[in-house]
Amino acid sequence: GAAELGPYRHYMQKEIFEQPRAVADTLEGVKAVVPELFEAAAQHAPGDGAYHTFARVRQVLILACGTSYYAGSVAKYWLESVAGMPCQVEIASEYRYRTSVPDPDTLVVTISQSGETADTLAALRHAQGLGMRHTLTVCNVATSAMVRECKLAFLTRAGVEIGVASTKAFTTQLVGLFLLTLALAKSHGRLTDEQEAAHLKALRHLPVALQAVLALEPQVIGWAEQFAAKENALFLGRGLHYPIAQEGALKLKEITYIHAEAYAAGELKHGPLALVTSAMPVVVVAPNDALLEKLKSNMQEVRARGGVLYALADADSRIDSSEGLHVIRMPESVGLLSPILHVVPLQLLAYHTAVARGTDVDKPRNLAKSVTVE
Ligand code: G6P
Repeated sequence: GAAELGPYRHYMQKEIFEQPRAVADTLEGVKAVVPELFEAAAQHAPGDGAYHTFARVRQVLILACGTSYYAGSVAKYWLESVAGMPCQVEIASEYRYRTSVPDPDTLVVTISQSGETADTLAALRHAQGLGMRHTLTVCNVATSAMVRECKLAFLTRAGVEIGVASTKAFTTQLVGLFLLTLALAKSHGRLTDEQEAAHLKALRHLPVALQAVLALEPQVIGWAEQFAAKENALFLGRGLHYPIAQEGALKLKEITYIHAEAYAAGELKHGPLALVTSAMPVVVVAPNDALLEKLKSNMQEVRARGGVLYALADADSRIDSSEGLHVIRMPESVGLLSPILHVVPLQLLAYHTAVARGTDVDKPRNLAKSVTVE
């Protein structure tokens, strides 16, 4: 009811602003990266424990739908670069129906806010049916089918999420997946104690960092006023932030009904550049990483065609607002964890654009919070 909303107009806005708390709760009690963090659901056979499983698996297969799939896509970058674990990410509804090559030494990871998504559950059962017995879920509902059916679980503590468009579930999934990356790295001797301590310190700083990002809301409202009159938008990112561009586009289309798509920025010249006109805003997720110079040349390509850019730039990057280039500067850079911060302005952009267009933010047309039938 209205009372629960407090100062917020919609559950989605409330849930966006709950992210510092949700992330802090998800990290509560995490003192070290130990396999036991993933045993919340372990009432299975002896030998199924996380310690045994993590040491044994050689690769990871992530299965999920929607926003949870994009969390998995970020995790793939972490798992391969930090833990040295080969990782595949598959849309659950595709995986369950295709002929694939199973490998018993795979850790099958499902990601689901609800733990009840029909396709994700079916994909899990399909993997089990192919002989893959090492299963783990990153899930927000302790009593869900997903938690019951996986041998291991990491429970995110986002709290109940009401808005159909997922926000705090996503950022807490990313926290769980980063911890999983560290646990696998440690189990395979690829993480020193110093590295572990530094990563945990960076994770614990996230609630404060998220709070600073939320303070950008007035600037994002300025962007949203311009987006409200558009019918198309393009989102660009590279590397770790390509899935964040995808999530930003998904949020925008779900609740504003503006057609949005995301591209890996390097693909711009292989198609979407043909669409660029002054009528289509181009959002660029531009953290200060190794790919920034490449991204800047992608931005030039857009500008040269009269496209209008909206860039989320890092604290220390040298991108400044100019004609046709609107910059919001992130308060700080947090390295590998930066997707967890960069997604927040994109959530706010979708939210405020929807408010400006007068759509039903918490219950967008044709969509359901939890898709429990195929
Ligand atoms: C629906 C929701 C999305 C969610 C997806 C997967 O489409 O509207 O917000 O990302 O289902 O849900 P899950 O509960 O499995 O994460």
